Amino acid sequence: MKDFPASPLVIAHRGYRMRFPENTLPAFDAAWNAGARMVELDVQWSRDGRIMVHHDTSLERCSNGKGMVREHNAYFLRQLDAGSWFSRAFAGTVIPFLEEVVAGVPEGGWLNVEVKPEAVSEAKNMSRMLASLMAICAPLKGRIVVSSFHHGFLKQLARLPHAPFIGVLSSRWQKEEALLAFATELKAFAWHPDHRGLEKTVVRRMKEAGLRVYPYTVNDQDRAAALLAMGVDGFFSDDAEILKGRDGY
Ligand code: G3P
Ligand code: CA
Repeated sequence: MKDFPASPLVIAHRGYRMRFPENTLPAFDAAWNAGARMVELDVQWSRDGRIMVHHDTSLERCSNGKGMVREHNAYFLRQLDAGSWFSRAFAGTVIPFLEEVVAGVPEGGWLNVEVKPEAVSEAKNMSRMLASLMAICAPLKGRIVVSSFHHGFLKQLARLPHAPFIGVLSSRWQKEEALLAFATELKAFAWHPDHRGLEKTVVRRMKEAGLRVYPYTVNDQDRAAALLAMGVDGFFSDDAEILKGRDGY
């Protein structure tokens, strides 16, 4: 695939999450500065339809706010501190808008936008939601993988005239057969499985079907080596530099 980062690809999970407050601009900047070639982030919609970069549906864990992201307008969400929970050094860090993250992607950098399933289930107008997502990501000129655990959403995405690369996220308990059939029907680009319990035979099968395989979330170097030996194309890691110093990386 032209311009797609070569394997093995470490996808910086929620930015450089191990050292910075997840899903914030400092975490994304740090990942790019550390040499990341693809950064993952999570999105959901504010009450007034802005795309906010935040993992949890609720605000409590990663900000000083309360309640659900979707219950608040963007103006309110932007007053919150999304850095102090991690360290006082990041006090005043805000929840980013997706367009701010897109603007910070360096030349040749790729984004993996994960659309949280709750954001989809609560959406009042899915077409508008998709249109805003794709419009905001347009400056990336195709350097984007959109993924979700919400497979109905991925189906709608795949029907778009200029659909992005699609990553099928799955949990540990979803059956390989059904996932393979679904990913094939969608012409998905990649499969994003939970790394726990992943088997070599399944990796081989998915790859034979033409899918890239990027398991989540791998922070242990021995586990990373074992997965690469199984044939995965890369993996998500909170440590953007987990493979630093490894031959050829
Ligand atoms: O996209 C891989 C991974 O981010 C999925 O799980 O909970 O970290 O969003 P989660
Ligand atoms: Ca995610």
